[in-house]
Amino acid sequence: MGKTTTAVNLAASLAVAEKKTLLVDGDPFGASAMSLGFTPEKIKAGMAEVFSFTHSVDHAIHKTELEYLDFVPSNVNTIQRDERFNKIAENRVVLKNAIKGAAEHYEYIIIDCPPTMRGIVANALTASTSVLMPVRSGHFSLEAISKLFKYVEYIKEIANPALYIEGIVMTMYESNTKVTEISERELKLRYNKYLFKTHIPRNHMITESTFYGKPAILYNCNANVSIAYLELAYELINKYSPENKTEQTVKG
Ligand SMILES: Nc1ncnc2c1ncn2[C@@H]1O[C@H](COP(=O)(O)OP(=O)(O)O)[C@@H](O)[C@H]1O
Ligand SMILES: [Mg+2]
Repeated sequence: MGKTTTAVNLAASLAVAEKKTLLVDGDPFGASAMSLGFTPEKIKAGMAEVFSFTHSVDHAIHKTELEYLDFVPSNVNTIQRDERFNKIAENRVVLKNAIKGAAEHYEYIIIDCPPTMRGIVANALTASTSVLMPVRSGHFSLEAISKLFKYVEYIKEIANPALYIEGIVMTMYESNTKVTEISERELKLRYNKYLFKTHIPRNHMITESTFYGKPAILYNCNANVSIAYLELAYELINKYSPENKTEQTVKG
């Protein structure tokens, strides 16, 4: 769907816009680390330690190539760690409590989520102000979006009454194709008020950039997809100016 790509590149673009941003890798498969050039030997602590209460989140925060971007990697990389992580994540307030202290140092905290509706995702939604949903144009399911909306409602009721949907972003967008036209029409019919104006175009450069361990903006700042993620960052920032409200955003 483009969740991890959006989490990494939106976070990097917010940082380029000089907004102090923290990216948290909530996906035990940990693809964000690769996109930012974090090989296992560069990771000193991560979500595994935070969720076993051995380290505070401060110890798991890593600096990145971008001055305004910090990163908490997921290092839930063994079966034992995964079992313990999932067990602890059954308590949905662990992440919220863990990042509470660090949160005041950031204008934006973005949590990349796996495609589940429990455990770490319940933790992310409980800890967040809002939810940003990337959908792959042409290949999304309206049913899946509706299910996610219902899950957000459920978390609102049981854990986080102020939670709201930040918006839906169309990714891997190919203009002038029938499938894009149809999917955009369907989305507008049902979810018009949630749609971000910015579309993220399909561009294989973005996959290439992950292999080089760089967000798109540092790999090729002139590429349409790098510019689109910057535009998305500004669309998000401008939504809250001039009040300059602090945002926490989850990708789902
Ligand atoms: N705008 C894009 N253009 C081309 N490929 C993309 C784009 N966004 C994501 N991809 C590729 O699609 C695949 C899945 O994206 P990813 O962000 O990892 O999805 P998710 O986290 O939702 O599973 C990756 O190989 C990624 O590089
Ligand atoms: Mg992912």
